[in-house]
Amino acid sequence: MISLPSVMQCTDLTGKRVLLRLDLNVPLDGAEIRDPFRIEKSLPTLNYLRDNGARIVIISHIGKGKPEDTLAPVAEYLNTKFDVKFLSILMSSENERLTKEMQNGDVVMLENLRHSEGEETNDPVFVKYLASLGDIYVNDAFSVSHRAHASIVGVPALLPHYVGFQMEEEIQKLSVAFEPEHPFLFILGGAKIHTKMPLLKKFLGIADHVFVGGAIVNNLFKAKGYEIGESVHDDGELEGLSGFLSSDRLILPTDVVVNNAAGSDVRGVQGVTSGDMIVDIGHETISHLSGVIGAAKLIVWNGPLGFYEKGFTEGTRELLALIGGSRAMSIIGGGDTVALIDEMGMIKQFSFVSTGGGAMLDFLANETLPGIEALQR
Ligand code: 3PG
Repeated sequence: MISLPSVMQCTDLTGKRVLLRLDLNVPLDGAEIRDPFRIEKSLPTLNYLRDNGARIVIISHIGKGKPEDTLAPVAEYLNTKFDVKFLSILMSSENERLTKEMQNGDVVMLENLRHSEGEETNDPVFVKYLASLGDIYVNDAFSVSHRAHASIVGVPALLPHYVGFQMEEEIQKLSVAFEPEHPFLFILGGAKIHTKMPLLKKFLGIADHVFVGGAIVNNLFKAKGYEIGESVHDDGELEGLSGFLSSDRLILPTDVVVNNAAGSDVRGVQGVTSGDMIVDIGHETISHLSGVIGAAKLIVWNGPLGFYEKGFTEGTRELLALIGGSRAMSIIGGGDTVALIDEMGMIKQFSFVSTGGGAMLDFLANETLPGIEALQR
């Protein structure tokens, strides 16, 4: 069991400048926040720090760090809850002075960390600059803690450090998958099978059933010798794939939705032809899974089962509805899947919805993350 210094163990927060790493990388439509899930999940730690008289300096990234990737809309959103002063220039000698003029309970937010290359390279000069803005450091950014970036692994080496409530909860809830109740159903979707191979291997050893959908299953179909037409898949050989295919725990779709010049159609997996693109799972597959879901005590799921970007979300929605209505403990993550859950108004129907996409996958595969290790030193 991972044990980290909780922010509640910091007995003297009053008057302290707390450098609070959040993951406020939320989907935007222009300046409109499409899904505030990650912001809302940051509130318990923010409110705790405010209630205890800390002076809070929020740091986060958004997007990939292009000049137009700004946290201004997020600061505006938070401003509807309490006053937040936005420091619109990431690196400025003014910022340290401003943090020193803060009053107890004040909140400021720094512009996108990725406006400096030093964030991603964990540059010591950038780390030192960030550390100059706080007296203590709190990480409540589980969903980016798989990145060995300056604000995740660099700063905690220089400041007394603690973990926030959201990150603590993620670790505790996701760790259930390592000592699960059975029957345990693990569902993996999305793309890029080469990054998900270790996870598949691990959970074929732990779970009773592993269902694979999304673009990654196209690689498995190809390895079985099926035609996949124009479907998205990873190029090149994938070592160990044939070992997975022989596992009696593996469940693959038996029918799929395909898209082609004539429109969309449902096919048995061996009926896909060269002009088809597999874009979703079919009804026969969902009806088979409904039996497995009904019997499961634990379900862990990351990644959509259809071609989300092209709007093929039906299979994912149907499975979400089945799991939301089941008695199983349900743990679900991945940005696209969570956006659908939010849109369907179903957040409360799952035992736990993770803020993590890649971080959830890395944590499930390795049982730790660079950001967790940095807090243990
Ligand atoms: C995420 O959205 O998964 C996190 O914010 C990490 O973002 P990144 O994949 O751009 O590092």
